[in-house]
Amino acid sequence: MSKQMSHLDNIPSTPGKFKMDKSPYIHNRLRWHSSLAKLTFWSFMFLGLILIFFFRSPSSNPLPQDPSRRSLRTYNWGGPAWEKRVRSSARIRSRNGISVLVTGAAGFVGTHVSAALKRRGDGVLGLDNFNDYYDPSLKRARQALLERSGVFIVEGDINDSALLRKLFEVVAFTHVMHLAAQAGVRYAMENPGSYVHSNIAGFVNLLEVCKSANPQPAIVWASSSSVYGLNTKVPFSERDRTDQPASLYAATKKAGEEIAHTYNHIYGLSLTGLRFFTVYGPWGRPDMAYFFFTRDILKGKSISIFEAANHGTVARDFTYIDDIVKGCLAALDTAEKSTGSGGKKKGPAQLRLFNLGNTSPVPVSDLVSILERLLKVNAKRNIMKLPRNGDVQFTHANISLAQRELGYKPSTDLQTGLKKFVRWYLSYYSGGKKAAG
Ligand SMILES: NC(=O)c1ccc[n+]([C@@H]2O[C@H](COP(=O)([O-])OP(=O)(O)OC[C@H]3O[C@@H](n4cnc5c(N)ncnc54)[C@H](O)[C@@H]3O)[C@@H](O)[C@H]2O)c1
Ligand SMILES: *[C@@H]1O[C@H](CO)[C@@H](O)[C@H](O)[C@H]1NC(C)=O
Ligand SMILES: *[C@@H]1O[C@H](CO)[C@@H](O)[C@H](O)[C@H]1NC(C)=O
Repeated sequence: MSKQMSHLDNIPSTPGKFKMDKSPYIHNRLRWHSSLAKLTFWSFMFLGLILIFFFRSPSSNPLPQDPSRRSLRTYNWGGPAWEKRVRSSARIRSRNGISVLVTGAAGFVGTHVSAALKRRGDGVLGLDNFNDYYDPSLKRARQALLERSGVFIVEGDINDSALLRKLFEVVAFTHVMHLAAQAGVRYAMENPGSYVHSNIAGFVNLLEVCKSANPQPAIVWASSSSVYGLNTKVPFSERDRTDQPASLYAATKKAGEEIAHTYNHIYGLSLTGLRFFTVYGPWGRPDMAYFFFTRDILKGKSISIFEAANHGTVARDFTYIDDIVKGCLAALDTAEKSTGSGGKKKGPAQLRLFNLGNTSPVPVSDLVSILERLLKVNAKRNIMKLPRNGDVQFTHANISLAQRELGYKPSTDLQTGLKKFVRWYLSYYSGGKKAAG
């Protein structure tokens, strides 16, 4: 049986809900039948008009097929029991521990980072809107996993300022690990609004609340290797140009880096951006190639492998989730305090950017060969031209800065990491669980 999870976007927004009362005009006290018929007729006309009015007015139409309407969803939060859960989840249980608000905690990276922080005794509170960009039942399963280790995920949107202010009222977070975002490169052509909502408006809202919080937290957040865009100089170093994004996703991540600069400059917020390079592993994202290749190879479905012009190789600097988690924790641990208070800057604050990659790009065709060996199934390969819809041909991280400042040292090669992914995949999707999407 597939799990019970509902598609939250199909729940109509509350402004559309209204109660329809039975007409009070029709009751059996009326004695003249012709009048009764007339009255009934006009009552129905009247009701009909009201109904037409309600369904045509924009605020009452939930338009479930339009994902930009996500912002209209309301969530249940607040109340003493809820606050108690928030407090308990964020409670620090080790000496020198930190208390971290993790946005996007039901996401792939967010789940792993939250679990790792909790394991070492830090206070962790999650925040996620459980949107259905990919199968929300996977997000619910990750939530259940975190729940068992004592991490509570608040259900809400990062663009909800009342909610964020409330969270900072209840807990004096020392750190924010900001991982909530609209990810994915190709989906940006389908639903550009969702990128603006989460990666621009949501990020600004989060920073607004952080700058006003007392004390201000230090913030570590996920940028992306995609900011290098059409840059051809390899390996990609932090100082290389990032002004030629190839997708709206990349452009919103680049905008995030500039916005971070502003909030650091004006308000003294300590900000560290991490440019992740193609992260993979157990509990991963179904919209990424290694994940849906696995699914399609097992189904006997052909998979599309892209090649660049002149049969050029498409390659990625695949980075295993455990290495990324170490980088995230090191960034939190080396983050200096924000310097402002009450929304005012008191002095200069830390502003950093790091590549977190693996430093060894692997051609996508090699990825497929490794999967074939692990799954013991031959893939049906369909070689195709790389479409010009946002994907770049090549990524390769120079990680010497992260190595120096964070002690970051990735240690999992693609073969080893994929073996762990495949083991997870087979166990997660066996036992009656339905394959994603
Ligand atoms: N996985 C990668 O290869 C990769 C590469 C580069 C950058 N990143 C970045 O790392 C971060 C984490 O990525 P991931 O792979 O875990 O993605 P993910 O989609 O699994 O996780 C993001 C989570 O954020 C939540 N979310 C999205 N918009 C939200 C909003 N407005 N309010 C509240 N929650 C919201 C989603 O429900 C999801 O659970 C993202 O910022 C992503 O852009 C990831
Ligand atoms: C984000 O929230 C603000 C303030 O509530 C709202 O005005 C804006 O429309 C929202 N932005 C998006 C893109 O959802
Ligand atoms: C890698 O980045 C460092 C700066 O962090 C730079 O000094 C070095 O030259 C870069 N290496 C290459 C091969 O580009």
